[in-house]
Amino acid sequence: MRALPKGRSQAANAKKSPDTAGPFLMKGASSLATLRRAARVCRACDLWRNATQTVFGEGSPNAPIMFIGEQPGDQEDLAGQPFVGPAGRILNEALLQAGIHRDEVYVTNVVKHFKWTPAERGKRRIHKKPRYSEINACRPWLDAEINLVKPQVLVCLGATAAQALLGRKFSVTRQRGEAVESSLAPRVMATVHPSSILRAPDHATRELQMKEFVRDLAKIARLVRPPK
Ligand code: URA
Repeated sequence: MRALPKGRSQAANAKKSPDTAGPFLMKGASSLATLRRAARVCRACDLWRNATQTVFGEGSPNAPIMFIGEQPGDQEDLAGQPFVGPAGRILNEALLQAGIHRDEVYVTNVVKHFKWTPAERGKRRIHKKPRYSEINACRPWLDAEINLVKPQVLVCLGATAAQALLGRKFSVTRQRGEAVESSLAPRVMATVHPSSILRAPDHATRELQMKEFVRDLAKIARLVRPPK
């Protein structure tokens, strides 16, 4: 069994989650720094119980492009930063090839705690897809990030982010790279999640998927930096 975090009583740990981050962010919505601080103690859903820490978004506060993933993975949970594990390395490589500097963009997730289940054997923590209720509970943090950064282009990475933001019927396979009408930002689109490239069955497929991912990112780069 997991030890209780220090300073928290059994009763506090048993308390029911409020199902929305709203009450946690009331006092902290005026800057990304205060928002990040407020998110550290978010208990809107139960995911905090098995996570190391809240993994808040990161990047330029005036970023023209915001990338939104699903949730932090194992390495992100330990580091406290989004997209620093294997999927992050794919994202970094693709950004580089597309001519986008990672420190000029903002990177975040729809869910800010790592949801996992123990591997049947060994100590690995296996990623578990967040539920709709967990995505919903976490949504006020993402809305606040979007409101503060005000990106020109918002990019959903993968189906979880795309369906959370663009509707449950959104298909990344069919609609990737297409501009989508949305009030969230002047331009909104979706592409694959970089982890899907890690799961490619062979080298040739992986190369092809990477090429397509870079092509989507290059299209996004042109939206914010039109050719002279
Ligand atoms: N996958 C995500 O969706 N987000 C991360 O931060 C890392 C992996």
